[in-house]
Amino acid sequence: MSVSIKTPQEIEKMRIAGRLTSEVLDYIAPFVKAGVTTNELDKLCHDYIVDVQHAIPAPLNYAPGGHTPYPKSICTSINHQICHGIPGDKALKNGDIVNIDVTVIKDGYHGDSSRMYMVGEPSIQARRLCETTWLALWRGIRAVKPGAYLGDIGHAIQSFVEPMGYSVVREFCGHGIGSRFHEEPQVLHYGRPKTGIKLEVGMTFTIEPMINAGKKDIKQLGDGWTVVTKDHSLSAQYEHTILVTESGYEVLTVSDGCPPPPSP
Ligand code: MF3
Ligand code: CO
Ligand code: CO
Repeated sequence: MSVSIKTPQEIEKMRIAGRLTSEVLDYIAPFVKAGVTTNELDKLCHDYIVDVQHAIPAPLNYAPGGHTPYPKSICTSINHQICHGIPGDKALKNGDIVNIDVTVIKDGYHGDSSRMYMVGEPSIQARRLCETTWLALWRGIRAVKPGAYLGDIGHAIQSFVEPMGYSVVREFCGHGIGSRFHEEPQVLHYGRPKTGIKLEVGMTFTIEPMINAGKKDIKQLGDGWTVVTKDHSLSAQYEHTILVTESGYEVLTVSDGCPPPPSP
């Protein structure tokens, strides 16, 4: 299987799905406070996607090969949880950092984006990890242009975070996206320049680095989904859906409330 090149009609649908995805992340921000449960955040997002956006939360019942169906509509990954945290009854507490990952299907096309949210006043270390992960995502995004290689993206991220003592999670990666949630190619967040496939105008994929404050090793929890750091160090992630354009890239998961790009 090869990497699909989207038509102008498909790209327009992905712009719409991408904007809706980012708008869910805007909508939920004021609710992310000490005392709220991740189940409550899940319900708020679910109802917003279904009732307001008339769209579909892609994670709900998502069951890629070998997995039990994912039971909720968003992923909420707290502190040492890396990704795919399942919303539950536990309340967020002051100082937590939480990643909320939203994937929306509209008119058959997907948008996929995640951000970190701070509950109250996290430690300096936690805030620095989130900020660095955000900047790392943008290092990756700015490596995107026709003729560049997938490895250039991974290298831009890895070479930025590792000198700070952080590590890049290896087992999960960005992915092609379109009419399917996860398509080719795999977008690794580490690698060497000028390796992997060459980027072409019309490709759409996510970049979603998972950066650990400690070691890169992971552990899968018994719920079949939640992934945590083996050493229990904090982990952060940001994700955007990207289109390769003639001049470089277009971020598809944008909205009025999405954090503006960092200065170059
Ligand atoms: N949104 C995740 C990603 O960025 C995938 C979540 S799959 C789920 O690829 F089933 F856990 F929701
Ligand atoms: Co993704
Ligand atoms: Co995602």
